[in-house]
Amino acid sequence: MQNYTITKKSGTLGATIEGIDLNVPDDELMKILKDALDNSLVIKIKNQKLDRFGLAKLVKKFGPPYIHPIVPNGYDDCPEVLELLREPDDTELFGGESWHSDVTWMKPIGYVSILHAIDLPDVGGDTAFSSTISAFEALSDGMKKLLRTQKAVHAFHWREKREVQPWFCEQPVVKINPKTKKEGLYINRMFTSRFCDMTAEESAPLLNYLFDHMEDHKFTCRFEWSLGDVLIWDNRFTLHYPINDFSGQLRRMIRTSALEEA
Ligand code: SIN
Repeated sequence: MQNYTITKKSGTLGATIEGIDLNVPDDELMKILKDALDNSLVIKIKNQKLDRFGLAKLVKKFGPPYIHPIVPNGYDDCPEVLELLREPDDTELFGGESWHSDVTWMKPIGYVSILHAIDLPDVGGDTAFSSTISAFEALSDGMKKLLRTQKAVHAFHWREKREVQPWFCEQPVVKINPKTKKEGLYINRMFTSRFCDMTAEESAPLLNYLFDHMEDHKFTCRFEWSLGDVLIWDNRFTLHYPINDFSGQLRRMIRTSALEEA
């Protein structure tokens, strides 16, 4: 048994784990990680020495690794791992346009993402998370009942919006965790374009209300980064948002994702 500690990050979601080694993803370690994810939705594991191959080995223990069909920054020798590089002169930050979860626009959907810091700015570049379970729980009974009957269109867009296969699919608006039975809102500002059988214009008032609601600070937590940190989050029940507040400085992360098992 690994001698580890778990500390809660906020009253809503998030936890920090110390005393485990992600280079040894045996059954015992995977149970610790999966239980912590079911309880806290996003976990930071401190003091890790992982390279991209270690990350790829770990992600396969969560499910089939996801290889991005368009984003061009996967490693040739390890395509399941993306490099998220923000050079000092860049103004954009990968994923920094809006709150989102990873791989919602295809089936099977994204389960976990794992992010590891390689180069960090002196200060800034935190990653914020929101619990879609807490956001759903806070809605009225009438709204919950309505949303349980709805499906929404999710579409991936790389520099242009489009609804074409395989970057487009319909998803239930309310997702149930098969283990905990908790319900979460499965929509996000980056990839959800409309409710099924409605136009984008008809959908916008309710979708925008729900996006604003899900991004309320009371459902969120924010992780600062130190070298050696690894973040793992459950994309089915969280949104995330990297904070683009470190202009003039380098930030290099490596990220990998696993899909939900069928
Ligand atoms: C992402 O959106 O997956 C990147 C998160 C980050 O860079 O903090």
